[in-house]
Amino acid sequence: MEALARTLEAPRKRAAVAAEIALLGVGTVGGALLQRIDRLHGVVPALRVVHVANSRSAIRDADGLEPSQARDHLLHAAGAAHVVGKTVATSSGVNPLGTFDGSTPAIVIDATGNESVAAFHADWLAQGVHVVTASKLGQGVSLARWQAIQSACRAGRTRYGDAATVGAGLPLLRSLRALRDGGDAITGIAGVLSGSMAWLFGAYDGLRPFSGFVRQARDAGYTEPDPREDLSGEDVRRKLLILARAAGFALEAEDVVVDSLVPKPLATCTLGDVDASLGVLDGPLRDRFQQAYKHGEKLRHVARLDVVDGRVRARVGVESLPADHPLAAGQGTDNRVAIHCDRYDAQPLVIQGPGAGAGVTAAALLDDVLRIVRGED
Ligand SMILES: NC(=O)c1ccc[n+]([C@@H]2O[C@H](COP(=O)([O-])OP(=O)(O)OC[C@H]3O[C@@H](n4cnc5c(N)ncnc54)[C@H](OP(=O)(O)O)[C@@H]3O)[C@@H](O)[C@H]2O)c1
Repeated sequence: MEALARTLEAPRKRAAVAAEIALLGVGTVGGALLQRIDRLHGVVPALRVVHVANSRSAIRDADGLEPSQARDHLLHAAGAAHVVGKTVATSSGVNPLGTFDGSTPAIVIDATGNESVAAFHADWLAQGVHVVTASKLGQGVSLARWQAIQSACRAGRTRYGDAATVGAGLPLLRSLRALRDGGDAITGIAGVLSGSMAWLFGAYDGLRPFSGFVRQARDAGYTEPDPREDLSGEDVRRKLLILARAAGFALEAEDVVVDSLVPKPLATCTLGDVDASLGVLDGPLRDRFQQAYKHGEKLRHVARLDVVDGRVRARVGVESLPADHPLAAGQGTDNRVAIHCDRYDAQPLVIQGPGAGAGVTAAALLDDVLRIVRGED
């Protein structure tokens, strides 16, 4: 048994470095990614993490940082005494290009959700550095930025890994692209794309106040610390834009009509007053719930794109759906997406599963990295 273990372990030590990695963001997702890289060391091709940064500082080591310790080193980097070996601490700075050795494939992973980092994506791609991202701010905002990213991939012969941006790695974007590559036109997409909203409308019973469920979701970490970010539908707008563009529709952000759940008094109050103001949601949602209930239907927060007579309509908001509708099923924070196209015309292709959370998002990032390293689609 020992001899076998030695035989299997030997190639790990000799493995050539397949890619150099710069990780920007070591919060919930970035931290989980470092753990995953560490855990899979020797199982997946060798990845050398040469640069790790948060918004305040960065650490670099051309020989490779230890994934299990990089986050702690970074958090202590302001006190340089904690930085060990050849690791160099620098002040904050999002651009890690100088860290790469130039002879190994280089990949920047964006796990920040920060606008100034997303603004660099196209530059990096054009300069021959692949980008893998959990942030929706690259492809889910202006059409001009989306187009710049596509052009930069062609110019730099680089890849943009975006599986984590919608559905946290569920095969949504990949399926849309495969359907189009196979000659299909996409005629409709409808989905529950927000884990927090899926949980809220799955749990809401019309008897207890909606605001109580919002507090429960926030306390469980399903919503952002400010739940208005989820309730406004803006995050889902970005996800629908990413799906729509992958499906071949050149939509601008304002082409998506978003029906926000946040009324003015809640939208304009300070973060400290949000909790006390959540009660304004209760009356309107109870009325909507009762209407749906009378017809045997369920409320769901849906993002929808329809092509009707050659015109594209995209919207985000709460819908009342028949109880047996594909989007009314599912559990907890699951995402569910129905895709209509030439081959799936009468019955849509339905993709469902956990679409949020650090573990699945980090796994989706690493999958994209490995696809790039292995040259797979
Ligand atoms: N959490 C999820 O379940 C999930 C699922 C899918 C996608 N995402 C996306 O993944 C991204 C990260 O989410 P998260 O939940 O991990 O956020 P988070 O816990 O708030 O972590 C964000 C990290 O980014 C760093 N950062 C911010 N601005 C930076 C900059 N300019 N340069 C370098 N680092 C910077 C932060 O550093 P400081 O600590 O110094 O601020 C922090 O380390 C977001 O785009 C989010 O939408 C998250």
